[in-house]
Amino acid sequence: MASVTSLTASVDQRLATALQAALPDAGSADPLLRRSDRADFQANGILALAKKAKANPRELAGQVVDALPADDVIQDVEVSGPGFLNITVTDRAITANLAARAADDEGRLGVPRAEHPGTTVIDYAQPNVAKEMHVGHLRSAVIGDAVVQILEFTGESVVRRHHIGDWGTQFGMLIQHLIEHPHELDHGEGDARDGQTAMSNLDRLYKAARAQFDADEEFKTRARRRVVDLQAGDPETRARWQKFVDESKLYFYSVFDKLDMEIHDEDVVGESGYNDMLDETCRLLEESGVAVRSEGALCVFFDDVKGPDGQPVPLIVRKSDGGYGYAATDLSAIRDRVFRLKANTLLYVVDARQSLHFRMVFETARRAGWLNDDVKAQQLAFGTVLGKDGKPFKTRAGATVRLEDLLDEAVERASAVVREKARDLTEEEIAERGTQVGIGAVKYADLSTSASRDYKFDLDQMVSLHGDTSVYLQYAYARIQSILRRAGEARPVAHPELELAEAERALGLHVDAFAETVAEAAAEYAPHKLASYLYQLASLYTTFYEKCHVLNADTKAQKENRLFLCDITAKTLHQGVALLGIRTPERL
Ligand code: ARG
Repeated sequence: MASVTSLTASVDQRLATALQAALPDAGSADPLLRRSDRADFQANGILALAKKAKANPRELAGQVVDALPADDVIQDVEVSGPGFLNITVTDRAITANLAARAADDEGRLGVPRAEHPGTTVIDYAQPNVAKEMHVGHLRSAVIGDAVVQILEFTGESVVRRHHIGDWGTQFGMLIQHLIEHPHELDHGEGDARDGQTAMSNLDRLYKAARAQFDADEEFKTRARRRVVDLQAGDPETRARWQKFVDESKLYFYSVFDKLDMEIHDEDVVGESGYNDMLDETCRLLEESGVAVRSEGALCVFFDDVKGPDGQPVPLIVRKSDGGYGYAATDLSAIRDRVFRLKANTLLYVVDARQSLHFRMVFETARRAGWLNDDVKAQQLAFGTVLGKDGKPFKTRAGATVRLEDLLDEAVERASAVVREKARDLTEEEIAERGTQVGIGAVKYADLSTSASRDYKFDLDQMVSLHGDTSVYLQYAYARIQSILRRAGEARPVAHPELELAEAERALGLHVDAFAETVAEAAAEYAPHKLASYLYQLASLYTTFYEKCHVLNADTKAQKENRLFLCDITAKTLHQGVALLGIRTPERL
């Protein structure tokens, strides 16, 4: 197996064994090892253990130090304060560990796979049919995609679900309008069947249908009858509905494509995908007493969910007119994901403003026994995208910003940055790099803030070369590639026998922590932890590059070893940002 034990884990193991020897009754005791500024690591766990065993902590610390094996991992241990241990590892251990990571023939840098992977169904990137996508859909797509990549990298099997809004009463109005104006969705003669055209047609039709619906009572009646036909499966009505879905998908895919994100047709299972389950879902909930009839509707009540008037606000599973809504679909989707797809975990990357809905849906599913200790559901609720002024992101005219325009502008700004710095890039290369940098910038800005927080959409800041941006990471990567190209005959080779400079040690220890960072980001569904790790990695590399000569190193061995450090840093950056959905151009 290619997985490599990290230095943290090696030191931890040695400490645990020494603790066991010093305090045989303590059972398996955690030395609470952390990276530290004072030495390489600090162990903080001895204090609490000594207290429990009624021993003197400094004495116990001393015994642990004596019991540590003499090998070539730990260089130095020092008892500090009331009983902390400061631990320094050997230069040899650092380089040898990185060499083992570089030798991983699967190219995983020695990152282990989870011992007991499960199945996660993740619900993300879920726009609505016949509607323009907005920044909220952008967040769901970007965060969801990163979580998918991170989980899959740890060995989890991941099923993607794009729960698009493709059902509801508004389709009666849309379909009726299309029947009365059959050419509204036609693409112009010779037009490419592009997403942009599809969306502007849909948008025009939506507005026209809405206007007629509001103004014309007879149309309203025809539209309502159309909803009934749609639900009854009338073939002509269904065919028109399908047309809306197909045109919208054309548009969604064009946006996802721009976002450099893979979306597969079979993973797009919208609200309509659960139509056949709705009756049964209601029956099961009613029979088990989880849902009760109230004023003709089928409802689930919660002690802690009340309206402003103090009256309980139920989750409505079936309306009094027999219609099903968002809750019935989501409850049916849970049954599908748990019982057919055999998920252990259900994730929902959805705006925090829908948190109450999910709280009620999950609680209902728990009462019904569909969710339990073995099958968990969690909403990864994300905050609002704000404009530079700190208010929800809108155009100056107050309209929602079109996603495509936003992405185009990001690419434009990034291209300007790339062009300014480019020395030997062709126009074509500038365009390609501009896209990778611009889209990367949008994704990184989102992913580097913890998802639950709001974040400011500020293009100037996003494409800045300084500070915590993807451009900074991409330049660090490209700079390393340029050094490796200029190295000529010299190859990256690890030399564990060499002494390391301070900046080399700091960089090496951080590279080693990649595996633990990925594991943490996966366990907490927290791409921002990976982002902050990568930013630190690029910063440590910058310091290393300022302090240590690479191509002009003193000896051949030192040059090779430093090239090796460059190379493994680049590989780690590349793999890390790829998990965030971001590209690393070889030249910038
Ligand atoms: N289409 C919804 C929206 O645009 C998001 C769907 C979220 N997923 C779910 N299973 N309800 O707000």
